[in-house]
Amino acid sequence: MSFNWENKLSKRVEAIPPSGIRKFFDIVQTMPDAISLGVGEPDFVTPWHIRESAIESIRSGETAYTSNAGAPKLREAISKYMKKRFDLEYALNQIIVTVGASEAIDLALRAIIEPGDEVIIPDPSYVSYMPNVTLVNGVSVPVPTKAENDFRITAEEIEKAITPKTKAIIMPYPNNPTGAIMGKSHLEEVAKVIIKHDLVVISDEIYAELTYGQKHVSIASVDGMKERTIVINGFSKAFAMTGWRLGFVCAPDEVAKEMLKIHQYVIMCASTMSQAAALEALNKGFEDNYADIEHMHDDYNMRRRVIYRSLNDMGLASFEPKGAFYIFPCIKSTGLTSEEFAQRLLKEQHVAVVPGTAFGPSGEGFVRCSYASSLKNINEAMARIKKFLENLNA
Ligand SMILES: Cc1ncc(COP(=O)(O)O)c(C=O)c1O
Repeated sequence: MSFNWENKLSKRVEAIPPSGIRKFFDIVQTMPDAISLGVGEPDFVTPWHIRESAIESIRSGETAYTSNAGAPKLREAISKYMKKRFDLEYALNQIIVTVGASEAIDLALRAIIEPGDEVIIPDPSYVSYMPNVTLVNGVSVPVPTKAENDFRITAEEIEKAITPKTKAIIMPYPNNPTGAIMGKSHLEEVAKVIIKHDLVVISDEIYAELTYGQKHVSIASVDGMKERTIVINGFSKAFAMTGWRLGFVCAPDEVAKEMLKIHQYVIMCASTMSQAAALEALNKGFEDNYADIEHMHDDYNMRRRVIYRSLNDMGLASFEPKGAFYIFPCIKSTGLTSEEFAQRLLKEQHVAVVPGTAFGPSGEGFVRCSYASSLKNINEAMARIKKFLENLNA
Protein backbone atom coordinates (compact mmCIF):
# COMPACT_ATOMS: atom_id res chain seq x y z
CA MET A 1 0.00 0.00 0.00
CA SER A 2 1.36 3.39 -0.92
CA PHE A 3 1.99 6.03 1.71
CA ASN A 4 -0.93 8.36 2.36
CA TRP A 5 0.25 11.99 2.26
CA GLU A 6 -3.14 13.38 3.16
CA ASN A 7 -2.83 15.34 6.40
CA LYS A 8 0.94 15.04 6.19
CA LEU A 9 1.60 18.07 4.01
CA SER A 10 1.80 21.60 5.31
CA LYS A 11 -1.53 23.31 4.71
CA ARG A 12 0.34 26.57 4.33
CA VAL A 13 2.42 25.22 1.47
CA GLU A 14 -0.51 23.42 -0.15
CA ALA A 15 -2.42 26.69 -0.25
CA ILE A 16 0.26 28.40 -2.35
CA PRO A 17 -0.67 28.31 -6.04
CA PRO A 18 2.01 27.18 -8.52
CA SER A 19 3.63 29.97 -10.51
CA GLY A 20 1.40 31.24 -13.33
CA ILE A 21 4.47 31.66 -15.52
CA ARG A 22 5.56 28.03 -15.50
CA LYS A 23 2.23 26.82 -16.87
CA PHE A 24 2.83 28.69 -20.12
CA PHE A 25 6.44 27.56 -20.42
CA ASP A 26 5.33 23.95 -20.31
CA ILE A 27 3.00 24.48 -23.27
CA VAL A 28 5.65 26.47 -25.18
CA GLN A 29 8.03 23.50 -24.90
CA THR A 30 5.62 21.44 -26.99
CA MET A 31 5.47 24.01 -29.85
CA PRO A 32 8.64 24.10 -31.95
CA ASP A 33 7.71 27.31 -33.80
CA ALA A 34 6.51 29.18 -30.72
CA ILE A 35 8.03 32.56 -29.89
CA SER A 36 8.28 33.18 -26.21
CA LEU A 37 8.05 36.68 -24.83
CA GLY A 38 7.31 34.97 -21.55
CA VAL A 39 10.72 34.45 -20.06
CA GLY A 40 12.12 36.76 -17.43
CA GLU A 41 15.77 36.30 -18.14
CA PRO A 42 18.41 37.77 -20.44
CA ASP A 43 18.78 36.13 -23.84
CA PHE A 44 22.50 36.94 -23.67
CA VAL A 45 25.06 34.38 -22.62
CA THR A 46 27.22 35.45 -19.66
CA PRO A 47 30.22 37.40 -21.07
CA TRP A 48 33.10 35.06 -21.88
CA HIS A 49 35.67 36.55 -19.49
CA ILE A 50 33.24 35.91 -16.61
CA ARG A 51 32.69 32.29 -17.65
CA GLU A 52 36.43 31.86 -18.09
CA SER A 53 37.17 33.08 -14.57
CA ALA A 54 34.85 30.38 -13.17
CA ILE A 55 36.62 27.76 -15.28
CA GLU A 56 39.96 29.02 -13.99
CA SER A 57 38.70 28.92 -10.42
CA ILE A 58 37.71 25.26 -10.84
CA ARG A 59 40.98 24.46 -12.63
CA SER A 60 42.99 25.89 -9.75
CA GLY A 61 41.09 23.76 -7.26
CA GLU A 62 38.86 26.34 -5.59
CA THR A 63 36.23 23.77 -4.76
CA ALA A 64 35.69 24.28 -1.04
CA TYR A 65 33.10 26.41 0.81
CA THR A 66 33.79 30.11 1.08
CA SER A 67 33.06 31.96 4.30
CA ASN A 68 29.31 31.86 5.01
CA ALA A 69 28.64 35.46 4.11
CA GLY A 70 30.59 35.11 0.87
CA ALA A 71 34.27 35.39 -0.06
CA PRO A 72 35.65 38.56 1.56
CA LYS A 73 37.14 39.68 -1.76
CA LEU A 74 33.73 39.47 -3.41
CA ARG A 75 32.08 41.35 -0.56
CA GLU A 76 34.76 44.04 -0.87
CA ALA A 77 33.99 44.28 -4.58
CA ILE A 78 30.25 44.48 -3.86
CA SER A 79 30.87 47.21 -1.30
CA LYS A 80 32.87 49.21 -3.89
CA TYR A 81 30.22 48.58 -6.53
CA MET A 82 27.38 49.80 -4.29
CA LYS A 83 29.31 52.97 -3.54
CA LYS A 84 30.23 53.62 -7.15
CA ARG A 85 26.89 52.86 -8.76
CA PHE A 86 24.37 53.84 -6.06
CA ASP A 87 26.33 55.99 -3.62
CA LEU A 88 25.65 53.60 -0.74
CA GLU A 89 28.28 52.60 1.81
CA TYR A 90 28.23 49.12 3.31
CA ALA A 91 30.84 47.43 5.48
CA LEU A 92 31.68 43.78 4.76
CA ASN A 93 29.61 42.52 7.72
CA GLN A 94 26.57 44.24 6.19
CA ILE A 95 26.79 42.24 2.95
CA ILE A 96 25.72 38.63 2.42
CA VAL A 97 26.27 36.84 -0.86
CA THR A 98 23.17 34.77 -1.57
CA VAL A 99 21.81 32.16 -3.94
CA GLY A 100 20.26 34.70 -6.27
CA ALA A 101 18.14 37.65 -5.24
CA SER A 102 15.55 34.93 -4.56
CA GLU A 103 17.32 33.73 -1.45
CA ALA A 104 17.86 37.31 -0.32
CA ILE A 105 14.09 37.99 -0.45
CA ASP A 106 13.46 34.90 1.66
CA LEU A 107 16.19 35.80 4.17
CA ALA A 108 14.90 39.32 4.59
CA LEU A 109 11.35 38.18 5.27
CA ARG A 110 12.37 35.38 7.59
CA ALA A 111 14.56 37.72 9.60
CA ILE A 112 11.81 40.26 10.30
CA ILE A 113 8.35 38.69 10.07
CA GLU A 114 6.41 37.39 13.07
CA PRO A 115 3.15 35.47 12.49
CA GLY A 116 0.40 37.88 11.44
CA ASP A 117 2.73 40.74 10.49
CA GLU A 118 1.53 42.53 7.39
CA VAL A 119 3.74 43.26 4.41
CA ILE A 120 2.68 45.84 1.85
CA ILE A 121 3.38 44.73 -1.71
CA PRO A 122 2.72 46.88 -4.79
CA ASP A 123 0.43 44.94 -7.11
CA PRO A 124 1.28 43.76 -9.74
CA SER A 125 4.75 42.60 -8.73
CA TYR A 126 7.20 39.75 -9.04
CA VAL A 127 5.54 36.40 -8.35
CA SER A 128 7.63 35.27 -5.40
CA TYR A 129 6.89 37.97 -2.82
CA MET A 130 3.44 36.81 -1.74
CA PRO A 131 4.29 33.09 -1.44
CA ASN A 132 7.42 34.02 0.49
CA VAL A 133 5.38 36.11 2.91
CA THR A 134 2.95 33.20 3.33
CA LEU A 135 5.82 30.83 4.07
CA VAL A 136 6.87 32.93 7.05
CA ASN A 137 3.28 33.18 8.33
CA GLY A 138 3.05 36.81 7.37
CA VAL A 139 0.13 38.47 5.62
CA SER A 140 0.56 40.05 2.18
CA VAL A 141 -1.26 43.31 1.64
CA PRO A 142 -1.32 43.95 -2.10
CA VAL A 143 -1.70 47.61 -3.01
CA PRO A 144 -2.94 48.16 -6.56
CA THR A 145 -0.71 50.43 -8.61
CA LYS A 146 -2.25 52.30 -11.52
CA ALA A 147 -1.34 52.78 -15.15
CA GLU A 148 -2.17 56.49 -14.81
CA ASN A 149 0.56 56.78 -12.14
CA ASP A 150 2.98 54.91 -14.42
CA PHE A 151 2.55 51.97 -12.04
CA ARG A 152 4.38 53.73 -9.19
CA ILE A 153 3.08 53.22 -5.68
CA THR A 154 2.13 56.53 -4.06
CA ALA A 155 2.52 57.77 -0.48
CA GLU A 156 -1.28 58.03 -0.11
CA GLU A 157 -1.80 54.45 -1.28
CA ILE A 158 0.74 53.21 1.24
CA GLU A 159 -0.73 55.26 4.04
CA LYS A 160 -4.20 53.84 3.35
CA ALA A 161 -2.92 50.26 3.49
CA ILE A 162 -1.11 50.67 6.81
CA THR A 163 -2.62 49.05 9.90
CA PRO A 164 -1.17 48.50 13.39
CA LYS A 165 0.09 45.14 12.08
CA THR A 166 2.10 46.53 9.16
CA LYS A 167 5.74 45.63 9.62
CA ALA A 168 7.29 46.11 6.20
CA ILE A 169 6.90 47.19 2.61
CA ILE A 170 8.49 45.57 -0.41
CA MET A 171 9.70 48.17 -2.89
CA PRO A 172 10.14 46.34 -6.19
CA TYR A 173 11.54 49.00 -8.51
CA PRO A 174 12.44 48.81 -11.38
CA ASN A 175 9.34 46.68 -11.50
CA ASN A 176 8.66 43.27 -12.92
CA PRO A 177 6.17 43.07 -14.71
CA THR A 178 5.29 46.72 -15.43
CA GLY A 179 8.70 48.28 -16.12
CA ALA A 180 7.90 51.11 -13.70
CA ILE A 181 10.66 52.93 -11.87
CA MET A 182 10.60 55.32 -8.92
CA GLY A 183 12.62 58.53 -9.24
CA LYS A 184 14.17 60.38 -6.32
CA SER A 185 11.24 62.74 -5.70
CA HIS A 186 8.74 59.84 -5.69
CA LEU A 187 10.93 57.90 -3.29
CA GLU A 188 11.20 60.91 -0.99
CA GLU A 189 7.40 61.18 -0.84
CA VAL A 190 7.02 57.52 -0.04
CA ALA A 191 9.87 57.65 2.48
CA LYS A 192 7.99 60.22 4.60
CA VAL A 193 5.11 57.77 5.16
CA ILE A 194 7.47 54.86 5.74
CA ILE A 195 9.37 56.80 8.39
CA LYS A 196 6.19 58.15 9.97
CA HIS A 197 4.89 54.59 10.45
CA ASP A 198 8.31 53.16 11.29
CA LEU A 199 8.29 50.43 8.61
CA VAL A 200 11.09 48.21 7.35
CA VAL A 201 11.76 48.37 3.60
CA ILE A 202 12.78 45.39 1.52
CA SER A 203 14.00 46.99 -1.69
CA ASP A 204 14.38 44.53 -4.55
CA GLU A 205 16.77 46.30 -6.91
CA ILE A 206 17.69 43.36 -9.14
CA TYR A 207 16.95 45.51 -12.24
CA ALA A 208 18.82 48.58 -10.94
CA GLU A 209 21.25 48.56 -13.88
CA LEU A 210 18.44 48.31 -16.41
CA THR A 211 16.81 51.71 -16.45
CA TYR A 212 16.32 53.81 -19.54
CA GLY A 213 16.77 57.55 -19.66
CA GLN A 214 17.08 57.91 -15.89
CA LYS A 215 19.62 56.44 -13.49
CA HIS A 216 18.30 54.12 -10.77
CA VAL A 217 17.99 55.67 -7.33
CA SER A 218 18.01 53.30 -4.37
CA ILE A 219 15.46 54.10 -1.69
CA ALA A 220 18.25 53.42 0.81
CA SER A 221 19.99 56.58 -0.42
CA VAL A 222 17.05 58.78 0.63
CA ASP A 223 17.56 60.57 3.98
CA GLY A 224 16.60 58.43 6.97
CA MET A 225 16.07 55.28 4.90
CA LYS A 226 19.34 53.37 4.92
CA GLU A 227 18.97 52.34 8.55
CA ARG A 228 15.58 50.71 7.86
CA THR A 229 16.20 49.30 4.38
CA ILE A 230 17.32 45.88 3.25
CA VAL A 231 18.69 46.27 -0.29
CA ILE A 232 18.57 43.24 -2.56
CA ASN A 233 20.52 43.00 -5.78
CA GLY A 234 22.45 40.42 -7.78
CA PHE A 235 24.11 39.31 -10.95
CA SER A 236 21.26 37.49 -12.73
CA LYS A 237 19.85 40.26 -14.86
CA ALA A 238 22.45 42.96 -15.51
CA PHE A 239 25.32 40.51 -16.06
CA ALA A 240 23.19 37.82 -17.76
CA MET A 241 24.03 35.33 -15.00
CA THR A 242 20.68 33.78 -14.04
CA GLY A 243 21.98 30.20 -14.00
CA TRP A 244 24.89 31.02 -11.71
CA ARG A 245 22.44 31.72 -8.90
CA LEU A 246 24.23 34.63 -7.36
CA GLY A 247 22.78 37.62 -5.59
CA PHE A 248 23.50 39.69 -2.53
CA VAL A 249 21.85 41.64 0.21
CA CYS A 250 23.09 44.80 1.95
CA ALA A 251 21.52 45.67 5.25
CA PRO A 252 22.05 47.36 8.63
CA ASP A 253 24.15 45.36 11.13
CA GLU A 254 21.28 44.19 13.31
CA VAL A 255 19.27 42.56 10.56
CA ALA A 256 22.31 41.41 8.53
CA LYS A 257 23.41 39.44 11.60
CA GLU A 258 20.07 37.61 11.78
CA MET A 259 19.90 36.97 8.04
CA LEU A 260 23.38 35.53 8.13
CA LYS A 261 22.32 32.97 10.76
CA ILE A 262 19.52 31.71 8.49
CA HIS A 263 21.86 31.66 5.49
CA GLN A 264 24.49 29.74 7.52
CA TYR A 265 22.11 27.01 8.56
CA VAL A 266 20.12 26.70 5.34
CA ILE A 267 22.63 27.39 2.58
CA MET A 268 26.12 27.48 4.14
CA CYS A 269 27.47 29.63 1.33
CA ALA A 270 26.71 30.51 -2.29
CA SER A 271 28.51 28.48 -4.95
CA THR A 272 32.27 29.10 -4.83
CA MET A 273 32.67 29.00 -8.64
CA SER A 274 29.83 31.43 -9.11
CA GLN A 275 31.44 33.76 -6.61
CA ALA A 276 34.66 33.66 -8.64
CA ALA A 277 32.66 34.59 -11.73
CA ALA A 278 30.90 37.43 -9.92
CA LEU A 279 34.21 38.79 -8.66
CA GLU A 280 35.49 38.93 -12.23
CA ALA A 281 32.27 40.64 -13.36
CA LEU A 282 32.75 43.40 -10.79
CA ASN A 283 36.54 43.74 -11.07
CA LYS A 284 36.35 44.10 -14.84
CA GLY A 285 33.50 46.53 -14.33
CA PHE A 286 35.72 48.81 -12.20
CA GLU A 287 38.29 48.79 -15.03
CA ASP A 288 36.11 49.30 -18.07
CA ASN A 289 33.18 51.19 -16.55
CA TYR A 290 30.82 48.24 -16.72
CA ALA A 291 31.10 47.70 -20.46
CA ASP A 292 29.35 44.29 -20.17
CA ILE A 293 26.31 45.86 -18.58
CA GLU A 294 26.27 48.86 -20.92
CA HIS A 295 26.35 46.77 -24.05
CA MET A 296 23.39 44.59 -23.02
CA HIS A 297 21.54 47.59 -21.60
CA ASP A 298 21.77 49.45 -24.91
CA ASP A 299 20.46 46.45 -26.79
CA TYR A 300 17.46 46.09 -24.44
CA ASN A 301 16.81 49.78 -24.82
CA MET A 302 16.67 49.51 -28.60
CA ARG A 303 14.27 46.54 -28.38
CA ARG A 304 12.20 48.37 -25.77
CA ARG A 305 11.59 51.21 -28.19
CA VAL A 306 10.62 48.81 -30.99
CA ILE A 307 8.16 46.80 -28.89
CA TYR A 308 6.65 49.90 -27.28
CA ARG A 309 5.97 51.46 -30.68
CA SER A 310 4.65 48.23 -32.24
CA LEU A 311 2.19 47.46 -29.45
CA ASN A 312 0.82 50.98 -29.34
CA ASP A 313 0.58 51.13 -33.15
CA MET A 314 -1.57 48.01 -33.20
CA GLY A 315 -3.89 49.43 -30.55
CA LEU A 316 -2.59 47.72 -27.42
CA ALA A 317 -2.02 50.78 -25.28
CA SER A 318 1.19 50.40 -23.33
CA PHE A 319 2.76 52.50 -20.66
CA GLU A 320 6.35 53.23 -21.70
CA PRO A 321 8.49 51.01 -19.49
CA LYS A 322 11.46 52.79 -17.93
CA GLY A 323 13.19 49.83 -16.36
CA ALA A 324 13.78 46.04 -16.38
CA PHE A 325 13.04 44.28 -19.70
CA TYR A 326 9.27 43.98 -19.69
CA ILE A 327 6.37 45.82 -21.24
CA PHE A 328 2.85 45.56 -19.85
CA PRO A 329 0.28 46.33 -22.57
CA CYS A 330 -3.36 46.80 -21.70
CA ILE A 331 -5.50 44.23 -23.52
CA LYS A 332 -8.89 45.37 -22.20
CA SER A 333 -9.91 46.60 -25.69
CA THR A 334 -10.02 42.96 -26.87
CA GLY A 335 -12.76 42.07 -24.38
CA LEU A 336 -10.69 39.07 -23.27
CA THR A 337 -9.36 38.44 -19.80
CA SER A 338 -5.57 38.32 -19.41
CA GLU A 339 -5.69 34.56 -19.10
CA GLU A 340 -7.91 34.15 -22.19
CA PHE A 341 -5.72 36.52 -24.19
CA ALA A 342 -2.52 34.66 -23.30
CA GLN A 343 -4.05 31.21 -23.84
CA ARG A 344 -5.58 32.09 -27.19
CA LEU A 345 -2.52 33.95 -28.45
CA LEU A 346 -0.41 30.92 -27.68
CA LYS A 347 -2.86 28.48 -29.24
CA GLU A 348 -3.72 30.52 -32.32
CA GLN A 349 -0.45 32.33 -33.11
CA HIS A 350 2.12 30.45 -31.06
CA VAL A 351 3.31 33.49 -29.13
CA ALA A 352 3.78 33.18 -25.38
CA VAL A 353 3.14 36.13 -23.10
CA VAL A 354 2.28 35.99 -19.41
CA PRO A 355 -1.20 36.98 -18.14
CA GLY A 356 -0.95 40.04 -15.91
CA THR A 357 -2.86 38.20 -13.21
CA ALA A 358 0.20 35.97 -12.62
CA PHE A 359 1.63 39.03 -10.85
CA GLY A 360 -1.37 39.88 -8.70
CA PRO A 361 -5.07 40.70 -9.11
CA SER A 362 -4.32 44.20 -10.45
CA GLY A 363 -2.66 42.59 -13.45
CA GLU A 364 -6.11 41.78 -14.89
CA GLY A 365 -6.50 43.46 -18.27
CA PHE A 366 -2.77 43.35 -18.99
CA VAL A 367 -0.18 40.88 -20.21
CA ARG A 368 3.56 40.89 -19.68
CA CYS A 369 5.84 40.71 -22.70
CA SER A 370 9.55 40.36 -22.14
CA TYR A 371 11.86 42.08 -24.60
CA ALA A 372 14.82 40.03 -23.47
CA SER A 373 14.46 38.30 -26.81
CA SER A 374 16.14 38.92 -30.18
CA LEU A 375 14.87 41.74 -32.37
CA LYS A 376 13.98 39.14 -35.00
CA ASN A 377 11.79 37.29 -32.48
CA ILE A 378 10.23 40.50 -31.25
CA ASN A 379 9.34 41.61 -34.79
CA GLU A 380 7.89 38.21 -35.67
CA ALA A 381 5.93 38.13 -32.39
CA MET A 382 4.56 41.61 -33.11
CA ALA A 383 3.40 40.52 -36.59
CA ARG A 384 1.66 37.50 -35.05
CA ILE A 385 -0.02 39.53 -32.31
CA LYS A 386 -1.27 41.96 -34.96
CA LYS A 387 -2.74 39.05 -36.91
CA PHE A 388 -4.30 37.70 -33.71
CA LEU A 389 -6.00 41.04 -33.10
CA GLU A 390 -7.20 41.25 -36.71
CA ASN A 391 -8.70 37.76 -36.44
CA LEU A 392 -10.40 38.74 -33.18
CA ASN A 393 -11.96 41.77 -34.83
CA ALA A 394 -12.97 39.94 -38.03
C1 LIG B 1 11.95 41.41 -9.38
C2 LIG B 1 12.74 40.16 -9.29
N1 LIG B 1 13.38 39.88 -8.14
C3 LIG B 1 14.11 38.77 -8.00
C4 LIG B 1 14.23 37.86 -9.03
C5 LIG B 1 15.05 36.63 -8.80
O1 LIG B 1 16.37 36.86 -9.21
P1 LIG B 1 17.51 35.80 -9.00
O2 LIG B 1 17.70 35.08 -10.31
O3 LIG B 1 18.73 36.63 -8.69
O4 LIG B 1 17.14 34.90 -7.91
C6 LIG B 1 13.59 38.10 -10.24
C7 LIG B 1 13.65 37.13 -11.34
O5 LIG B 1 12.90 37.15 -12.29
C8 LIG B 1 12.83 39.29 -10.38
O6 LIG B 1 12.19 39.58 -11.50
